[in-house]
Amino acid sequence: MSTIIDGKAVAEKVLAECGQQIEELQTRGVVPGLAVVLVGDDPASKVYVGSKVRKCAELGLHSRKIELPADATHQQVLDVVHELNADPQIHGILVQSPPPPQIDEDAIVRAIDPAKDVDGFHPENVAKLALEDSSGYVPCTPAGCMRLLKEAGVETSGAEAVVIGRSMIVGKPMALLLMSKEGNATVTVAHSRTKDLVEVCRRADIIVAAIGRPEFVTADMVKDGAVVIDVGINRVEDASAKRGYRLVGDVAYDEVAPKCSAITPVPGGVGPMTIAMLISNTIKAACQSQR
Ligand code: GUN
Repeated sequence: MSTIIDGKAVAEKVLAECGQQIEELQTRGVVPGLAVVLVGDDPASKVYVGSKVRKCAELGLHSRKIELPADATHQQVLDVVHELNADPQIHGILVQSPPPPQIDEDAIVRAIDPAKDVDGFHPENVAKLALEDSSGYVPCTPAGCMRLLKEAGVETSGAEAVVIGRSMIVGKPMALLLMSKEGNATVTVAHSRTKDLVEVCRRADIIVAAIGRPEFVTADMVKDGAVVIDVGINRVEDASAKRGYRLVGDVAYDEVAPKCSAITPVPGGVGPMTIAMLISNTIKAACQSQR
């Protein structure tokens, strides 16, 4: 029997902790504020940004959504970031990825004040993660995966972990977290050029799938009793589904789940954790701004 790791329940626990911290801050007259910048009209990004702002409102956070048209210039986005850097009501800034092609995303990330970079993408925060300096911000999705492992009682220390995917948003920071003193795992990062990926994955006690390919991880890649964390959210066309598509992860859930000791579903696994960790990072930024 495999345990289905309930990301919604863990996210609610994280948000309840956040609620207490928000109250404490409010007694000191501080309302944590998050600004979310959306450039263009990518439908998936719109949905993500909408749910981030809604969750802030629910919790009594100050939130601001800044929408720029798809043909906004790089300078316009930079100007918005500079304004938000200078705004004392805003403690966290997030520019939704991916922006349209005329925007140099790296330059935008570097322009965000590292103290407000609640995504944890600024080079200063990437360095702090590698240095295990806890004053930095850890990217929300991998931070959420670590919390899920902890809440599910998964022992990462000494475990063989395989992270599939090497993105700056998930794969790389996930590998750093797993190999940190908090994780103590032996980590392999696999990607599109990895030779014999099936064999590499089969060694794993813990697999984190973050490749962005629907149902990529199949049963033959998973050792009996492994723990599988599925970061993927892929839209797959399905004429019988309500919106004409359904959401599937990077893991072929139906065939993989019976082999696992624990697995995250899609939806309801990693997804809800990402927002919870974003709120948590925003509160941390508000606290640190008071020092
Ligand atoms: N797009 C997909 N995931 C993320 C994220 O965590 N942060 C931002 N800014 N954009 C994203």
